Amino acid sequence: MRAVQYHRFGPPEVLRVDEVPTPRPGPGEVLVEVWAASVDAGETAFRAGRLRALGRSRFPRRVGGDFTGRVAALGPGVTAWRAGDEVWGLMPHFAFGAIADHVAVPERRLARAPKNLSLLDAAALPSSGTTAMTALTDKAGLVAGERLLVRGATGGVGSIAVQLGKALGAHVTALAGTRNLDWVTDLGADTALDYRTTGPADLGRFDVILDVVGTEPTAYRSRLTRHGRMVALAFDHEHILTSMVTTGLRAALSPRRLKLFSNNPSAARIAELTESVEAGRIRPVVDTVFPMADIAEAHRRLDAGGVRGKFVIDVHGGRSGT
Ligand SMILES: NC(=O)c1ccc[n+]([C@@H]2O[C@H](COP(=O)([O-])OP(=O)(O)OC[C@H]3O[C@@H](n4cnc5c(N)ncnc54)[C@H](OP(=O)(O)O)[C@@H]3O)[C@@H](O)[C@H]2O)c1
Repeated sequence: MRAVQYHRFGPPEVLRVDEVPTPRPGPGEVLVEVWAASVDAGETAFRAGRLRALGRSRFPRRVGGDFTGRVAALGPGVTAWRAGDEVWGLMPHFAFGAIADHVAVPERRLARAPKNLSLLDAAALPSSGTTAMTALTDKAGLVAGERLLVRGATGGVGSIAVQLGKALGAHVTALAGTRNLDWVTDLGADTALDYRTTGPADLGRFDVILDVVGTEPTAYRSRLTRHGRMVALAFDHEHILTSMVTTGLRAALSPRRLKLFSNNPSAARIAELTESVEAGRIRPVVDTVFPMADIAEAHRRLDAGGVRGKFVIDVHGGRSGT
């Protein structure tokens, strides 16, 4: 089968489509024929080698953290699925490889795909949707009437957090780039502010801040109300390791006020995402669809900034004979 891999750290051009063996589903696993997968912002840092200090670097490495597709085969002990079922899900925590013709994943990483979306559009959601849900509900406990600030509101996670914040009844302020201010208002933000001209000191107070940027954490935290909660999803890209350590320490010292987590959703959370989409509370935001062969261009575009929602890779459309 085809799988996107890289054999050394570097710019987007290190990504290539290789022929690799099709995995076999082990006990408790499901083999999924992948229809589409999203381009993960976190992975561009891995690909570039910015996180190489965190562990041993074994090559080749694969990309893609979430996917949509159809069940192709069941491993021993799996009874909940049948061949042909339309599913969506995430790779195991910290594992990548969804931009491939097939993935073998534990069945707890899957849920039924929403009936009201194509498998191509739905691919924008499993990772960003579950991240936004966990951040705003379990971590921040956002409730109706609260004021929510989404910093990085037009990207993969932010564009879902804006929708979910509105669905939960919050007043949503979005910090976004100049050309995206009207766009993010159409998505549901009550107030849209340009992050290039609005600093933390220009902002009011918020009950919840969702930060997917990671710079100036102290200045943003000072914009919280007395009982406010900030969820930090990202680290300062320029100083990533220092940012990880200092944000981690601050979250340990003020766990009520600063929440840090790494998205690792349960099967119930993925199924809840299906329900939210079918109920119309969340819709996928697809910026551009790329064929698998254009994966390097998709990473280049994400690195360049300005994304609206997610870049999606059409895996099935490029398969021979389809
Ligand atoms: N902890 C977790 O479990 C978890 C889960 C998912 C994602 N993440 C992390 O969260 C981050 C964002 O992910 P994503 O998929 O949403 O990325 P993305 O699609 O690239 O979106 C990032 C957004 O941030 C905006 N932005 C950049 N600089 C900004 C600034 N100074 N002020 C305000 N907004 C700014 C960008 O706007 P422009 O492009 O217009 O500049 C873009 O809309 C990544 O670092 C990812 O690793 C963490």
